[in-house]
Amino acid sequence: MDRILYSHYNDKVMAADKAALLIENNNVVGASGFTKAGDSKSVLPAFAKRAANEEVAITLITGASLGYTTDADLAENNALIRRMPFMADPALRKSINDYKLKYIDQHLSETVEQLICGHIAPIDVAIIEASLIDENGNIIPTTSIGNSAFFAAQAKKIIIEINTKIPLSFKGVHDCVVPNSYPDRDVINIQNITDRIGETFIKIDPEKVIAVVYTDITDQPAVIAEPDVKTTAISNHLLNFFENEVKKGKLTYSLLPLQAGIGKVANSVLMGFKNSNFKNLTMYSEVLQDSTFDLIDSGNLDFASGSSITVSEGCYERLINNFNDYKDKLVLRPQNISNAPEVVRRLGIIGINTAIEFDIYGNVNSTHISGSKMMNGIGGSGDFARNAYLSIFVCPSASKENNISHVVPMVTHHDHTEHDVDILVTDQGLADLRGLAPRERAEVIIENCVHPDFKEEIRDYFTRACEQTGGQTPHILEETFKFHTRLKETGSMQKNKTLV
Ligand code: COA
Repeated sequence: MDRILYSHYNDKVMAADKAALLIENNNVVGASGFTKAGDSKSVLPAFAKRAANEEVAITLITGASLGYTTDADLAENNALIRRMPFMADPALRKSINDYKLKYIDQHLSETVEQLICGHIAPIDVAIIEASLIDENGNIIPTTSIGNSAFFAAQAKKIIIEINTKIPLSFKGVHDCVVPNSYPDRDVINIQNITDRIGETFIKIDPEKVIAVVYTDITDQPAVIAEPDVKTTAISNHLLNFFENEVKKGKLTYSLLPLQAGIGKVANSVLMGFKNSNFKNLTMYSEVLQDSTFDLIDSGNLDFASGSSITVSEGCYERLINNFNDYKDKLVLRPQNISNAPEVVRRLGIIGINTAIEFDIYGNVNSTHISGSKMMNGIGGSGDFARNAYLSIFVCPSASKENNISHVVPMVTHHDHTEHDVDILVTDQGLADLRGLAPRERAEVIIENCVHPDFKEEIRDYFTRACEQTGGQTPHILEETFKFHTRLKETGSMQKNKTLV
């Protein structure tokens, strides 16, 4: 079947390298793509190639990270002036940390807010992946929505990338809506995760369309790590916690809608629900990973709302080939809706996100290695953590042969403050911080979450901080980062160990 049902676009069909020439130096480009799903697989790579031979660079705003080497190629060819709101590519990460471009790490619900309010420069060109163009010239998106609906509304020019690998059965799974500017903002009327408040297509002004490009490249598959000893232990601690909440009558076996962050830990943790007593679960999340579809298949999960489908190769095949079997259990929304604080608070989300490290008082670092170097970005973790019914952070107690402790005296970068964090879980155990003052929190975190190789030293630090400094949140400032300085100097956070 022809994928362009609007004949006025027929003379706009061109090759990706021609479309890439329509992007001007210094343009602000808003491109589809969210954690590798539904990204531009032809036009942005063609622009990166163009930049290899020509001095041309853009500000690139997406939903989240892109797949394949697109972000890397753009960075390595100096094609990026600014990049926001999220990335996860090693080469782009290096360019950011070498300060070759400016990276704005942003709550994923906020990009549209910033654009709509004029806090950042508006979109010149939108590049949006489509599975189909309907009779009115509108776009049926693919495996993500991200910020595409707003990019299309604001952009002066639009390039559509039709992906012929996406089955036409995707039509109907999306729920696209563009918010009004202030002060005329409407309530986001989602009372139940299955509620739909928008259209199944992205509305396009046909006059803005400057190019239509065909591609047949599938999304880059996600790499999913099988649950291991540590992630299984984390999962078991969390499941025990939920069982106890059910016993206390605070939750039922269907819990409340779940949100799970990216990364191997969060995915493995969710897999733990498969062989549990928890049934009729629901998700109100941003990224739907393999665990979502495994839980649907196992009959544990009834419905999932997200902004993207980011799955491994096997799961992708299963999903794409049988999409009609899943469609009535899914809705894909713009990220300003999937992550909207208003909805997260209303629905009572259980948010489970991964920490790089957390400290003895419950502050969480999700983004920076040793305080200075960007890892990926905050993503949607802050959108959910601050507003969730339960805000849970998970990570291993220690890694790299126990040379890194993920529980430290003070985090080197604060993404989620102690005020936003309810539950911390490592392979060692779970700290329930609800209703506890900072010193009580420290007792529980040290007792339950710290790896044995670091426990004595952290306990000693806390005891001396209480004695020597006192206060609401005791710290010995000369020593707060001693784990990190030791890691830098010796290659290990452990005492009396030198690896470099
Ligand atoms: N010091 C030094 N390095 C550290 C570290 C620390 N304290 N903590 C983690 N790292 C390194 C790991 O060693 C690993 O490096 P490697 O690739 O060389 O092995 C890397 O950081 C990633 O850690 P990993 O254990 O593979 O974790 P992950 O895949 O589960 O990802 C986050 C964890 C925190 C990086 C990831 O979840 C993230 O980017 N989160 C922020 C965004 C977010 O939460 N979004 C949620 C809504 S979708």
